[in-house]
Amino acid sequence: MPGKFIVFEGLDGSGITTQATLLRNYFISKNKDAVLTKEPTEGLMGGLIKSCLRKEWNTSPLVLQMLFAADRAHHVQSEIEPILKKGKIVICDRYILSSYAFGSLDVSLPVLKQLNSYFRKPHITILIDTQPKICMERMKKARPHMELFEEEHKLEQIRRNYLSMKNLFPETYIVDGNRAPEEVLGEIIKISGKIN
Ligand SMILES: Nc1ncnc2c1ncn2[C@@H]1O[C@H](COP(=O)(O)OP(=O)(O)OP(=O)(O)O)[C@@H](O)[C@H]1O
Ligand SMILES: [Mg+2]
Repeated sequence: MPGKFIVFEGLDGSGITTQATLLRNYFISKNKDAVLTKEPTEGLMGGLIKSCLRKEWNTSPLVLQMLFAADRAHHVQSEIEPILKKGKIVICDRYILSSYAFGSLDVSLPVLKQLNSYFRKPHITILIDTQPKICMERMKKARPHMELFEEEHKLEQIRRNYLSMKNLFPETYIVDGNRAPEEVLGEIIKISGKIN
């Protein structure tokens, strides 16, 4: 498998989408073939999950995590693996570690691990660590509604989960996301240099 699989993780509002997009643009500027993708996906299953996160319908925490796993299964099979096979870089905006950090508020870690046991691990995981208070402020500025997990006390626990579970994945780097976007990107570019 010649491609490289880079995953961005972090709290809502931590700057994941911003940094994943900036890194993709950086690779393209260096003539490296990089594809940006995200979870939940833009597909039907991703839509179901997003509508649950927006509280438009309700299901049990376990069913929600099963939906995340089903969406991931389809995503890995239909997008991530084929792109990696072509030797390209895949940059994924959220992946298994987010399921563990958010999901374990309500579902046991062994169950989450079992649900996610089918999926390849990333080559590099970049965990953007931004203070929950700052995440909440950014989200309030950027959009009108808060989603299912978006309360400061929940984000505090999810942050602790991310930090305690980071060693479950190889090559996980924690990047301070409280700084200006260019500064955060500079550090991420240095880390991504390790994949060459
Ligand atoms: N380093 C930064 N400093 C200040 N504002 C930032 C920074 N990074 C991102 N933002 C702003 O914060 C908001 C959330 O950023 P972004 O969409 O990248 O977060 P996210 O982690 O992808 O969150 P989400 O859970 O909403 O997908 C956006 O309005 C973005 O422009
Ligand atoms: Mg995002």
